[in-house]
Amino acid sequence: MDLELTEAQRAARDTARRFARERLERVGVEIDRTHEFPAKAVRELGELGMLGVFIPEQYGGAGLDNVSYALVIEEISVECASTGVIVSAHSSLGSWPILGLGTEDQRAHYLPKMATGQWLGCFALTEPQAGSDAAGQKTRAVLDGDSYVINGTKNFITNGPEAGVCILFAMTAPDKGHHGISAFIVETSSPGFQTTRIEDKMGIHGAHSAQLSFSDVRVPRENLLVGEGEGFKVAMKTLDGGRIGIAAQAVGIGRASLEASLKYAQEREAFGRPIASNQAIQWKLADMAVEVDAARLLTLQAAARKDQGLSCTKQSAMAKLFAAEAAMKAATEAVQIHGGYGYTKEFKVERYFRDAKITEIYEGTSEIQRLVISGQVLRNN
Ligand code: CAA
Repeated sequence: MDLELTEAQRAARDTARRFARERLERVGVEIDRTHEFPAKAVRELGELGMLGVFIPEQYGGAGLDNVSYALVIEEISVECASTGVIVSAHSSLGSWPILGLGTEDQRAHYLPKMATGQWLGCFALTEPQAGSDAAGQKTRAVLDGDSYVINGTKNFITNGPEAGVCILFAMTAPDKGHHGISAFIVETSSPGFQTTRIEDKMGIHGAHSAQLSFSDVRVPRENLLVGEGEGFKVAMKTLDGGRIGIAAQAVGIGRASLEASLKYAQEREAFGRPIASNQAIQWKLADMAVEVDAARLLTLQAAARKDQGLSCTKQSAMAKLFAAEAAMKAATEAVQIHGGYGYTKEFKVERYFRDAKITEIYEGTSEIQRLVISGQVLRNN
C-alpha cells in the first residue's frame, strides 16, 4: 500500500497551501465578522484551477484526482472554513453530478463554466420537512410539454444566492416514495427561482446557507439528470463524494486548532514556565495530533477509492463522521488550552470552535453517518 502522494497531488496541495496562507488568512478573519461572501477570493481560486480540481481538462478543469481535491479543501479550510465549504459544495455537490451522471451534452454545456467558477454550483435537496429524511420531498415537478414546471422550497442551501447552476430534487411521482424523486439541472436565472432567506448562523459566516423558493420554474426536459425516478440515487451517489469534501474541511479545521494550540502552549507561561511543559497540555496536543492524522488518512482512503471507481459509501461516511468529531474535539481543546483568551474573538480558536460544529451536521449528521456505516458493515457480514 503506497501512502506517498504523487508529484501532481503534492503540487496541488502546495499551491492551495500557498494561496490559503497568502490570501485566505485575512479573508477568514474578515468574513467571519462581516458575513460577506468571499467573491474575490473565490474568483482567484477559479483562476488557479481550484474550482475544477477533478474536472477533466477537456471541460476546462485541472484534470486532477479526488485525492488532490481533498488535499486542496483541507488547505483552504485551515485558513477559512467558509471558503472550504463554498468550494466543496460547488465541486462535489454542484459539478460532480453533471460530470459523473450527466449526458455528454450536459457536461459540455455546464462544466466549462463551472470549472472556472463563472457559474458556481449548489445542491438543493434539503427541505423544511426533509433533512435527514431526504426521501420526504414536497417540491413538485410536473411535465408540461417539453419542460417540467417546478414548485417548492429548499432550506440550508450552501452557495444558494451565488450559484449559477442548481442540482435540484423534486417529486415527479409522489405516490412512489423515493422512487418518485427526480433530479434536474436548473439555471438559477430561470424566472421564478428566488433566494427567500439567508440564515444567520453560528459559524461559517461567509458561506451563505439559503432558503430557495421555486414558483412555476420551467426547466427544459433535457435538463433531467439520469432519468425520472432516479433522483434519490443521484442524491446518495453525490453525497458519497460530498462527504469526502466535508471530511477534508473538518481535517483543515482540526489542523488549524492543533497548530494554534502548539504555538500558544509554547508561548504562554503559567507558574513560571510554558504551559506546554505540563503533561495535562501535552496529552491534549497528542490526542489532537493523532486524531487529525487519522481523519486525514480516512479522508484520503475514501478519495482514493473514488478515484479507482470503487464504492466509497462506507469510507466517505466513516471519514466524515470521524473527521467531524475530531475537528470538534480539537477545537474544544484548543479553546481550553487558550483559557480565557480562547473565549474571545481576539484568537482564531473561538471561530474554529463555531465552524467545526457544522461539520457534524451538514451533508448528513453524525447520526446519519453511523446509520450508513452500520448498514454497510451489516450487509457485508
Ligand atoms: N448510492 C447509490 N444508491 C444508494 C445509496 C448510495 N450511496 N444509498 C442508498 N441508495 C439507494 C438504495 O440502494 C435504495 O435503492 P432501491 O430502493 O432501489 O433498492 C434507495 O437508495 C433507498 O436506500 P435506503 O433504503 O438505504 O434509504 P433510507 O431511506 O433507509 O436511508 C439515508 C437513506 C441514508 C438516511 C438518506 O436519506 C440520507 O443520507 N439522509 C441524509 C441526507 C443528507 O445528507 N442531507 C444533506 C443535504 S446536502 C447539505 O447538507 C446542504 C449543503 O448545501 C451542504
